[in-house]
Amino acid sequence: MPATTATAPGKIILFGEHAVVYGQPALAVPVPAVRARTVVSPAPDLPAGEIRITAPAVALENAPLESLPPEHPLAKAVALTLEAVGVSRPPALRLRLSSTIPVAAGLGSGAAVTVALARALSAFLGHPLGNDAVNAIAYEVEKIHHGTPSGIDNTVVTYNLPVYFVRGRPLRAFRVRRPFTVVIADSGIPAPTAQAVGDVRRAAQAEPERFQALFAAVGRVVEAAYRAITTGTPEALGPLMDENHALLQQMGVSCPTLDRLVTAARQAGALGAKLSGGGRGGNLIALVPPEAAEAIARALEAAGAVRTIVAPIAPPAP
Ligand code: MEV
Repeated sequence: MPATTATAPGKIILFGEHAVVYGQPALAVPVPAVRARTVVSPAPDLPAGEIRITAPAVALENAPLESLPPEHPLAKAVALTLEAVGVSRPPALRLRLSSTIPVAAGLGSGAAVTVALARALSAFLGHPLGNDAVNAIAYEVEKIHHGTPSGIDNTVVTYNLPVYFVRGRPLRAFRVRRPFTVVIADSGIPAPTAQAVGDVRRAAQAEPERFQALFAAVGRVVEAAYRAITTGTPEALGPLMDENHALLQQMGVSCPTLDRLVTAARQAGALGAKLSGGGRGGNLIALVPPEAAEAIARALEAAGAVRTIVAPIAPPAP
């Protein structure tokens, strides 16, 4: 059995995070500049059925799968993949996971690791899973990270497409009519998605009317952004990002560092900026004139961003 490799991209939410958990639409795109990768190789030196995992990002070095608790995301991803391909006694094998996607930064690192693992392992076992099956596995594993995932992260990462996402509805990809450029900037503060989602849930229960109005307002921003992207007027996205950020602030999921970086992006010439993902840390995105992208990225680094990515968002090559 030859070694098998699979990769999956990162993702970024353009508009609609948090409100998407409550049924509003959201827009997200893959970020191919960062990727998770899994290599599965035969392990003739190990007893049949033994699986060892190496994943430097979570300090695992040739660790027996059995040493992980069943609810560990990697153990769960392996178990669900074996179940999906109908293999209860796999041959001895080693899984090597690596990723250039920053962890806990809102870039879909967890989803991408699961997707790459499910693809590589199922192909190694001779039953390569299709996207729908891989997406279902990644969604189950996302539930470990936070109890009520909308499913947007695993969907974008699995299908590697820009998506207009509504929870529970079939995949709807969108076409970017005219290219635009965003700078993604990492605040350096770990983004506790589970905590932010839990806090929003509690706040929404305490003040249902105010939060329903906030979620509905986000939904309107997302619809306007969708029209701008698909009709070729991406410059309209700047003010919409500002509006979306203000709504996220009102939900309580921004933080002083993100607010400061959003302001720094605008002062450096961005057309608009917002936090992206769960918030409280992690990344922000700024819509930038393409020729100013590098200068704005440097300005964000000078203002304290620990990492920046210039991401052109373009229609797929014909
Ligand atoms: C996290 O990347 C996006 C959130 O909207 C949570 C979710 O959709 O599951 C905050």
